[in-house]
Amino acid sequence: MIPTPHIEVKEQGIIAKTVLMPGDPLRAKFIADTFLEDVQEFNKVRNVFGYTGTYKGRKISVMASGMGMPSIGIYSYELFKFYGVENIVRIGSCGAYTADLNLYDVILSNDVWSESTFAKVQGGYDKDVIAASSELNGKLEKIAGDLGIEIHKERIHSSDVFYRENFEEYKDINKNHGCVAVEMEAFALFHNANVLGKNAACLLTVSDNLVTHELTTSEERQNSFTNMMKIALELAE
Ligand code: HPA
Repeated sequence: MIPTPHIEVKEQGIIAKTVLMPGDPLRAKFIADTFLEDVQEFNKVRNVFGYTGTYKGRKISVMASGMGMPSIGIYSYELFKFYGVENIVRIGSCGAYTADLNLYDVILSNDVWSESTFAKVQGGYDKDVIAASSELNGKLEKIAGDLGIEIHKERIHSSDVFYRENFEEYKDINKNHGCVAVEMEAFALFHNANVLGKNAACLLTVSDNLVTHELTTSEERQNSFTNMMKIALELAE
């Protein structure tokens, strides 16, 4: 069933087997402009830009996910199910739940906890933790080591809510569920990978810290997450 409602690609083979997914369409464009060669734009529907190119001569795609589980739930499902995509690595930003994490630290998600109903509604999965692909995580860990980039392997929190009336709730989530940082997409991505027999992973860069209240500007976020991008780009094949 291609094209899909949200991706305008009419042929197989245009989207690479491995897709990197930042939340922000302009970050997808930045990655294509900065790191890829022989770039072909494959999607503009709703300004959710997607590009295929080569990195060090190897093929890879980058496409935005939008914000939140409903959005990444749509795009990752269509890529996995209808476009033959095998691996999706989310490359995003997160808010740290502990003062031990600094701005720009890179986290590789071991697994993700969420109070979201996404997985239950989508496929009857009624637990609240989902693991990343161990195969992809093994590769990403080795790449980070080879590049000399420190990564924190941790459990993260996927939240449906950015603005909570009770801001302090993050402390309980950190204490009760072991999550060190919050983002808004990984739980849906990992679930879709599991139901479709595919692989998903999530690399995050700390953009703000809920304990210390340090934060980066949106401009800094768009341009300076290069460590995380360089790790993920090495998955090109
Ligand atoms: N909350 C949710 N998602 C985020 C945050 C946050 O504080 N920072 C970056 N992504």
